[in-house]
Amino acid sequence: MTRITSLAQYHSEYKKSVENPELFWSDIAQEFVWKKKWDKVLEWNFKGPDVKWFLNGKFNITENCLDAHLPKHADRIAYIWEGNDPKEANIRLTYKELYEEVCCFANVLKKYGVVKGDRVCIYMPMVPQAVIAMLACARIGAVHSVVFAGFSAASLSGRIQDSDCKIVVTSDGAYRGMKDIPIKAVVDEALEVCPGVSSVIVFERTKSKVTMIPGRDTWWHEEMKTADKHCPPEVMDSEDPLFILYTSGSTGKPKGVVHSCGGYMVFTRYSFENVFQYEPKDLFWCTADVGWVTGHSYIVYGPLLAGASSLIFEGVPTWPDAGRFWQIVDKHKVNILYTAPTAIRALQASGLEYVKPYKLDSLRILGSVGEPINEEAWSWYNVNIGKGRCPIVDTWWQTETGGIMISPLAGITPTKPGFATFPLPGIQPMLVDEKGKEILGNGVSGNLCIRFPWPSIIRTTYGDHERCRLAYFATYDNLYFTGDGCRRDEDGYYRITGRVDDVINVSGHRIGTAEVENAINMHADVVESAVVGYPHDIKGQGIYAYVISTNDKKDHELLRKEILAEVMKIIGPIAKPDKIQVVKGLPKTRSGKIMRRILRKVAEGDVSNLGDTSTLLDPLVVEEIKSGRL
Ligand code: WTA
Repeated sequence: MTRITSLAQYHSEYKKSVENPELFWSDIAQEFVWKKKWDKVLEWNFKGPDVKWFLNGKFNITENCLDAHLPKHADRIAYIWEGNDPKEANIRLTYKELYEEVCCFANVLKKYGVVKGDRVCIYMPMVPQAVIAMLACARIGAVHSVVFAGFSAASLSGRIQDSDCKIVVTSDGAYRGMKDIPIKAVVDEALEVCPGVSSVIVFERTKSKVTMIPGRDTWWHEEMKTADKHCPPEVMDSEDPLFILYTSGSTGKPKGVVHSCGGYMVFTRYSFENVFQYEPKDLFWCTADVGWVTGHSYIVYGPLLAGASSLIFEGVPTWPDAGRFWQIVDKHKVNILYTAPTAIRALQASGLEYVKPYKLDSLRILGSVGEPINEEAWSWYNVNIGKGRCPIVDTWWQTETGGIMISPLAGITPTKPGFATFPLPGIQPMLVDEKGKEILGNGVSGNLCIRFPWPSIIRTTYGDHERCRLAYFATYDNLYFTGDGCRRDEDGYYRITGRVDDVINVSGHRIGTAEVENAINMHADVVESAVVGYPHDIKGQGIYAYVISTNDKKDHELLRKEILAEVMKIIGPIAKPDKIQVVKGLPKTRSGKIMRRILRKVAEGDVSNLGDTSTLLDPLVVEEIKSGRL
């Protein structure tokens, strides 16, 4: 694959990619296995939106992830799996073994009636079988919808219903740190309202007791015993959907972001190889969960397309103690580590005594993703983990972009703490003001947009194309709007400053404030609520909820507890507010709009200058909120 090896080459490749994007990307796409090459590289408009890459190209992504490596590298390790408990034996899967497992499971899916285009929901812990299930779907042209196994039954059923999944692949339970989480029970509860699901395939992980419903539920290991090891890949069109992944936006329920096969394949491998400068024999470790896009693109597709060896970790960074990550790095001699600022900050806060026992001398490159990385965390990572000799790649991207958009190329791009630096070739960022006017030059800030399509751009939101248009392509004419604010400094370096919409980023997880409000409002004693983000030392942002209760007499502590339980039930633990302030009223304009700006300032503790409050219906409300601040 076209590999950039110097800064001068980056600049020349970038220039080429802007001057002739079609030629640039078709040269890269030539390096994959196609049954039939494309007739046309690109057709697009952002009005629809309607973006197509590699038109009429035919292939299967799993042939590129698996079959293509077998002639020369069948015995190369695809994955090393490290369980939650350090005492549990590792599992190693070569490319050949992974190929066989994927084919077997693809045949199991076929047996249960899954055909091209069907949706399959995957709700699993971090075990290799989660990856196998994803690839098995892709093998037969089914569309996977992975749901992070920390989401509640209500969230899971909402996602299953939205994309009308036919089958759910899950496990009996999951280990995470000290916890033994009953995964299958959550699925059972979710399926009470999902009559469209005909089968559930259950991987045995914890051997905990589960209820198996005859005629619906079956065991993974039983099915695999008899399944054939060969499964011809379904011939897919470049624009056939590969997967759906739900993500939160500023309004309404989570959206099912749809990615298609061709462009996603080309971009994930290109970005993986160039950003991380992966070399054969490197062991790459991305600590994300496959339930998020980072897991899709940089645990599954990108590394496998590149023929890389990766580590999959089931557990959490702080169990049995805060040295777990570093112990794993030494044990397996990890060369490239890709993790989130939240994890870095949490481990930093635990103290250096957890880092000191480990050598960390295998590490070559460090990565960061998911949220802005503050300078202190960047420097701590650089000094204590990278020992000052490992380049850090701060990679900015989104579920909707499919792959890394703005990032240093490891060891090539000179870095600055907190800066994602420069766009990858093919990515054309642009800063605009509120009205959509381009902000030119350096030393400026604005809203981050992308003006030209890249291969792995979102194609639609499942079942509702208009929603995709409204969310990303309608704010500014002819631009993809990211929802992020951004600064371009005097040297032209990009720094992502955070969301400018009603999305908050808690520990690298995107949470829509509207979703949390809806969950809180389900509580019988709540009339109205407003949720905002505030700076949090470890999580990046915390969730601050203002709640109006109908029940004056109710103890506030009890109400808070019940609200937390409600949010857990409706969304999951990741959306639990850190602070809940019971208030008598919310600051509203005369037209009834909540002035979130004021609520954000109070939550941030910046109450001295609340700006213009003269348009408020009842300015006294603000005094009450200020005095009750938590
Ligand atoms: C934020 C995760 C600053 C950003 C891949 C974006 C970042 C949202 C960075 C997408 C970064 C991601 N620096 N902010 N390096 N990476 N973000 O869809 O606000 O889970 O819009 O995709 O995370 O989150 P998502």
